[in-house]
Amino acid sequence: MSLKNTATSYGAIAKFFHWTVALAVIALLIVGFIMGTIQDKTLKLQVYNLHKLIGLTVLLLMLLRLVWRFMNVQPGYPAAVPRWERKAARGVHDLLYLALILMPLSGWIMSTAVGHPPQLGSWLIAVPGIEINKTIANFFNTLHSILAWIIPGIIIIHLAAAIKHHWFDKNEVLIRMLPWVKNPAEDRG
Ligand code: HEM
Ligand code: HEM
Repeated sequence: MSLKNTATSYGAIAKFFHWTVALAVIALLIVGFIMGTIQDKTLKLQVYNLHKLIGLTVLLLMLLRLVWRFMNVQPGYPAAVPRWERKAARGVHDLLYLALILMPLSGWIMSTAVGHPPQLGSWLIAVPGIEINKTIANFFNTLHSILAWIIPGIIIIHLAAAIKHHWFDKNEVLIRMLPWVKNPAEDRG
């Protein structure tokens, strides 16, 4: 499998970004909603910090992924896919990129502004230029909470589309994003 995308398939690097970010985001959503209920104080602090560190990793991966996306062709769709569906897919993917950059960024700014940035050993990873400030913390906290509901909504639409392509339209749109699976369209050129 090539590292770069081709006209018909995603390459290994795009697949790596897709599946590591997908897994991390689903885990962060679940942990995000339950971590507030943890009773043990030490464990609670550790889980919050882990949430922050994994969230920051998602931010880094998404920025690298954005650069990679611009350096690559985006695989085209099978001829039978109508124009509106191509546009909808493009729109949903762009929204996911935007939300998956805003989500960790809002969390990072909120926790820096409240005085609890992510911590790696003795290194406090604060957003440069952000001081402790309640108004800023509240604003980004609200944004983080709103996105916490919007992102699962977009993911459900995205999943429904992948299922439709695979089981109803029976095309290779899902196959070409799967790891370790060769897209049959590659051979047809
Ligand atoms: C894609 C990345 C991320 C996802 C999907 C995510 C998801 C979530 C979710 C679902 C919640 C619960 C929201 C609610 O109860 O209203 C939450 C809360 C929280 N997140 Fe994130 N998060 C991400 C990144 C980050 C980052 C990078 C930080 C900090 C550096 C962070 C810090 C927090 C904090 C402190 C809370 C608790 C807020 C509160 O209790 O008011 N998150 N996150
Ligand atoms: C768990 C089940 C998932 C499946 C089966 C799936 C499937 C796919 C498929 C088939 C594509 C290619 C679509 C096309 O070429 O039009 C794609 C692209 C994409 N998916 Fe998913 N996906 C899943 C989860 C996720 C999650 C959780 C996220 C976000 C956190 C996500 C974000 C994206 C993005 C941003 C693209 C655009 C491709 C790019 O430019 O990198 N996916 N996905």
